[in-house]
Amino acid sequence: MDFNNIRIRKAVSNDMIYVAAMIKELAAFENLPDAPQIDHKKLIEDGFESKKPAFKCFVAECLSTNTLVGHAIYFPIYSSWEGRSMFLEDLFVKREYRNHHIGSNLIKAIAKEAFNENCIRIDLHLLSSESPARGFYKKLNAVNLTKNGEGSDWNYVRFRKEAIAKLAE
Ligand SMILES: CC(C)(COP(=O)(O)OP(=O)(O)OC[C@H]1O[C@@H](n2cnc3c(N)ncnc32)[C@H](O)[C@@H]1OP(=O)(O)O)[C@@H](O)C(=O)NCCC(=O)NCCS
Repeated sequence: MDFNNIRIRKAVSNDMIYVAAMIKELAAFENLPDAPQIDHKKLIEDGFESKKPAFKCFVAECLSTNTLVGHAIYFPIYSSWEGRSMFLEDLFVKREYRNHHIGSNLIKAIAKEAFNENCIRIDLHLLSSESPARGFYKKLNAVNLTKNGEGSDWNYVRFRKEAIAKLAE
C-alpha cells in the first residue's frame, strides 16, 4: 500500500463508476446496504451533464495503482442567517487507506473552496453507525450541534468559519 502517492483532485465523469461503488461501500458501512438507489449514470447526468450540476466531488487517487481510494461529495447551500455555506453529503476513505490523512485532505480541499467562496459553514449529517467519525470531525474542530448527540440516530455537525479558515491554510 503506497500512502505517499495519493493525489486529491476534482472528480471527472469517468470517476463516477468508482464513486458509485464507494457510495455502496459507505452505505454498507452504515448498515444500510440497500439505501443507494442511483448508479454511475445518474451521477454523471446530475453532476456533469446537467446545466445546473447538483453536486461537486473530490476524489483521492492512488497514483501508484491508478485507483480511487476515497471521495467527498458536497454542494452549496445557503443560510438566511449567515449566507453562503456548503453541505458535505459523503466522506469516505477505503478501509485499508484510513488513518493516513486522506479523509482530512479531502475535507481540506473542500474547506479551501469554501473559504475562497466566503462560505461560513460546512454542514453534515452523521449517522450513529458512523459514530467513530465523530472523533475525526472533532479533531478537525467541527462542532456537534445535536443536543445530547450520544444515542441520537442522526448528528448535525458543523465546521464554522474559524474551522474552515484553519483547514484552508
Ligand atoms: C471518517 C474517515 C473519512 C476519516 O478518514 P481518514 O483518512 O481515516 O482520517 P485521517 O487520517 O485524515 O484523520 C485525521 C485525524 O483525525 C484522527 N482520526 C481519524 N479517525 C478518528 C476517529 N474515529 N476518532 C478520533 N480521531 C480520529 C486521525 O488520527 C488524525 O489525527 P492526526 O492529525 O493527529 O494524525 C474514514 O475513517 C472513513 O471513511 N470512515 C468510514 C465512513 C465514515 O464514517 N464517513 C464519515 C461520515 S460521511
